[in-house]
Amino acid sequence: MSNLLIRNIKILWGVNRNGFLKKSGVEMSDLESIDDAFLCIENGKIIEFGKMSDFSQTSDFDEIIDASDKMVIPSFVDSHTHLVYAGSREIEYIDKIKGLTYEEIAKRGGGILNSAKLLHETSEDELFEQSLHRIREIEKQGTCAVEIKSGYGLYPKDELKMLRVIQRLKTATRLTIKSTFLAAHAVPAEFKTRQSEYVDFVVNETLPQVCEENLADFVDVFCDKGFFTIAETNRILEAAAAHGLRPKIHANELDFSGGVQVGVKHHALSVDHLEYVGDAEISALLNSKTMPTILPGAALFLNLPHAPARKMIDAGLPIAVASDFNPGSSPSGNMKLMLSLAMINHRMTVRECLNAGTINTAYAMNISDFCGSIKIGNDADCLILKEIPSLEFFLYAYGSDLIETVVLKGQIV
Ligand code: NIG
Ligand code: FE
Repeated sequence: MSNLLIRNIKILWGVNRNGFLKKSGVEMSDLESIDDAFLCIENGKIIEFGKMSDFSQTSDFDEIIDASDKMVIPSFVDSHTHLVYAGSREIEYIDKIKGLTYEEIAKRGGGILNSAKLLHETSEDELFEQSLHRIREIEKQGTCAVEIKSGYGLYPKDELKMLRVIQRLKTATRLTIKSTFLAAHAVPAEFKTRQSEYVDFVVNETLPQVCEENLADFVDVFCDKGFFTIAETNRILEAAAAHGLRPKIHANELDFSGGVQVGVKHHALSVDHLEYVGDAEISALLNSKTMPTILPGAALFLNLPHAPARKMIDAGLPIAVASDFNPGSSPSGNMKLMLSLAMINHRMTVRECLNAGTINTAYAMNISDFCGSIKIGNDADCLILKEIPSLEFFLYAYGSDLIETVVLKGQIV
């Protein structure tokens, strides 16, 4: 293994001396930093950091980077993606431009069912290659850890195919990857008029096989208007809990569906989307350990109302921002862009956005004890930025590539 020193850093951001596992409310405005700093990395871990004036070289470094005039931030953590999918669905977007809603496209057998068909026709090896290509793309864009969901399989054989691909990605890449069994995403055509029978099938057939092979870290349900009900979500989450799976659910994207409350009731690690959130949802979240997660890329692409992130932070809640990278509603895993969208559309400050896309998304993957901030012992995942006038410029220049060097577990990408 190797040692790396980054020295003369103009400002080192995202320092976590107090061992925060997440940032909530006003804490989200606080992004601790050190001017004129150094960062020492050994065997993929952060072993020391501080002010250059306090630096004393005690060991030889295999590599030294001079970051004069450049800022360093923690790498992005993306806690909600569907990046294992087959092909693409750009043609459907034309239907949307013609005025069809997401639900109408889904009802026509498009949407998730279209991806399920493509996935069924694609071999595991081909699916792995397509997904690896997407991982390589987000790695260059500064993502060091990613959660990936199944949910385009619908039946055990294809769900296992997806989850095995995620398993292979865990070993084939240096990113930290968590896998989520998206148990109920859409109802297959054969079960069209028998949704509750499909839920029985998921609980009795698919879930046990997924757990038997130990293929999932978390469980998810698309709990929303036109998809799965509160009762069905309860049923699936109870069965998953018996197998030790904690939920991260899709909630309140299309309506005040009760998804937030059912997630909180089942101690979900996160509830994600949240376009429809009011006082009842906020108070449920305030009494919980659940991370509210917004997905600004999906809201942009589908023209959804924006989740009231400002109101939620002002009420004292944490907010995480993830990409939702998927072929239907957010065909991008670019976390820098997602954070710019959070700033533009959700009125979050740049510091709030950076906490939302690093430590808070790490919390939403249950990895914030070793990932998502600059802390001794953490994975050495950071981004050396190009020379820019201020931290704010990084998200303000929303279309510019401003990352100069990606350091992933101590190695330069
Ligand atoms: O998070 N909302 C549910 N599922 C995905 C969309 C998946 C798709 O359209 O393929 C989402 O937006
Ligand atoms: Fe999603």
